[in-house]
Amino acid sequence: MENDRSVWLNGDLIPWENATVPLLSHGFSRGSAIFEVFGTHVGPEGLVAFRLDRHLERLMRSVRLLEMELAYSEEEIIRAVIDTAKANKMGRGLFKLLAYWGEEAIINLVLDAKLDVAIFAIPESDDLSLDQIKPISACISKWRKLHPETVPVGAKACAHYLNGYLVRKDANLRGFDVGLTRGTDGFMAEGSIESFFMVKDGVLKTPPLGRILSSITRMSILEAASMEGIPASAEPLSPDDLYSADEIFTCHTGIKVSPVARFEDRTLEAPGPVSKQLIELMNRIINFEDDRFKDWFTRLD
Ligand SMILES: Cc1ncc(COP(=O)(O)O)c(C=O)c1O
Repeated sequence: MENDRSVWLNGDLIPWENATVPLLSHGFSRGSAIFEVFGTHVGPEGLVAFRLDRHLERLMRSVRLLEMELAYSEEEIIRAVIDTAKANKMGRGLFKLLAYWGEEAIINLVLDAKLDVAIFAIPESDDLSLDQIKPISACISKWRKLHPETVPVGAKACAHYLNGYLVRKDANLRGFDVGLTRGTDGFMAEGSIESFFMVKDGVLKTPPLGRILSSITRMSILEAASMEGIPASAEPLSPDDLYSADEIFTCHTGIKVSPVARFEDRTLEAPGPVSKQLIELMNRIINFEDDRFKDWFTRLD
């Protein structure tokens, strides 16, 4: 797949199929890699990345939280993203950036080396349709969110996605699209690869940071809601809060707002009025129709 595409790997643009690591690499065999995913859009002046500054800030936070070190500076990574976009004549789509220890680690657990970096440009396609608003179903997972005292949940680390995989698998086996986790304290956390919001009596609510990944979409929705005058708060939410919600939606980089039409055994309006307002606003933002948000985009030329 993707045979004609180039991947930026440690300073070189190489064919997609050559961007590999040894099976015994630390990143693969210990699952120690970290990553970022951000969206690109074609604006009036060319290709732009959605909130690239925030994504790179989170990448650097992941590096710090895991006591690792990147082989490249933030400026070098921005240059690399631009080079990757140009080499692939990138349009609307996603970038996936991986930072990892590519060297073999037979028994070594802690490595001294700086992290390698690989950058993949993935255009929108039938397999990757972005921002398609489609009502989904959601349940509360039997799996709990990783406890923040066992791993730094604010790091976007590949290893955390074994938990995410189990949550999604459990939901699918029960006939739902996505599962939402509780922390070990019983309060709601997030989905496998998505944050969630609920609306009660016109107020937008989402779990607080500290127990979840700092989703860039969640942050953007909170900022956009505040500018629109939609009351919003980040606060601990119980499963009972969700059962009594007027509206629920999930969000992530690929789809800004996915309204939940079925939550456990309840049917919900999807999208409800607040979700609809946010869907329309986010659509205007990513179509460059609202100048209040133009600094959310970084030009990639
Ligand atoms: C666990 C988790 N929560 C939330 C999100 C949403 O984050 P973002 O809005 O930055 O895509 C993701 C995205 O991958 C995720 O993996």
